[in-house]
Amino acid sequence: MQGLKGKNVLVTGGSSGIGQAIAVRFAQEGANVAVNYYKGKEEADTTLEQMRAASTAAGIEAGTLKDMKVQADISKEADVAAMFEQVIETFGGLDILINNAGMQIQAPSHEIEIAKFDKMIDINMKGAFMCSQKAIAHFLQNGGGIIVNDSSVHELIPRPRYVGYTMSKSGMQAMTRTLALEYARDNIRINSFAPGATLTPINPWKDDPKKKAEIESNIPMGRSGTSQEMAAVAAFLASDDAAYITGQTLFVDGGLTLFPSFRTPWTG
Ligand code: BGC
Repeated sequence: MQGLKGKNVLVTGGSSGIGQAIAVRFAQEGANVAVNYYKGKEEADTTLEQMRAASTAAGIEAGTLKDMKVQADISKEADVAAMFEQVIETFGGLDILINNAGMQIQAPSHEIEIAKFDKMIDINMKGAFMCSQKAIAHFLQNGGGIIVNDSSVHELIPRPRYVGYTMSKSGMQAMTRTLALEYARDNIRINSFAPGATLTPINPWKDDPKKKAEIESNIPMGRSGTSQEMAAVAAFLASDDAAYITGQTLFVDGGLTLFPSFRTPWTG
């Protein structure tokens, strides 16, 4: 992909799942990657190892790329500030932010504990916003930059028992569109990609063949997505190949947003 070589990238929640695959993909594209993690220090080390292996396999000479791991709870303003300072100082600047860190909880909406609801909103929505603020402030002083948000098909599709999650992701869509408009003249592009059912640790059903088959039967393409398929789209949106795209969400969902229950025509 065009324009990723030599760029400095920060991936939040880069120690597992889609975030890990994104970090690896950017290293493969020749970018310097900072891997943010919260609790998974060893997993973050695994990401760094995978990044090094991927860049070497892509023909990049070992040791020519910079990489680092950075601990932060992105729901805490002080942690976010310290993370940006550390990454910008170590890399000498930041070009691309990937807002990937997120969580989800499940409960009937009338029973959800507000403390858990708050935590989810604080990470998925407020955390992504606080990281965007820091990135944009830096981009404005340095001629521009790019933000890519890891959203969900549930920014669009209602998901019973996951009301806080859907609210956080439609909030992310509103954030993407608003910030994209606000900074469109500042050489700052902001987009989201929206994964459908993906084989990552956030989805324990991936290891339950019966549950997995049931879920996949509802996906028009008949299968789950992979973290690598999500990472490819994140890389595209951050690349110069997407130079004229801003404020958009690209759904990466095997057709899940295409009203799958109409796949077999309802005839009357
Ligand atoms: C959720 C997954 C879910 C998928 C499709 C994602 O945003 O994190 O748990 O499988 O949407 O419903």
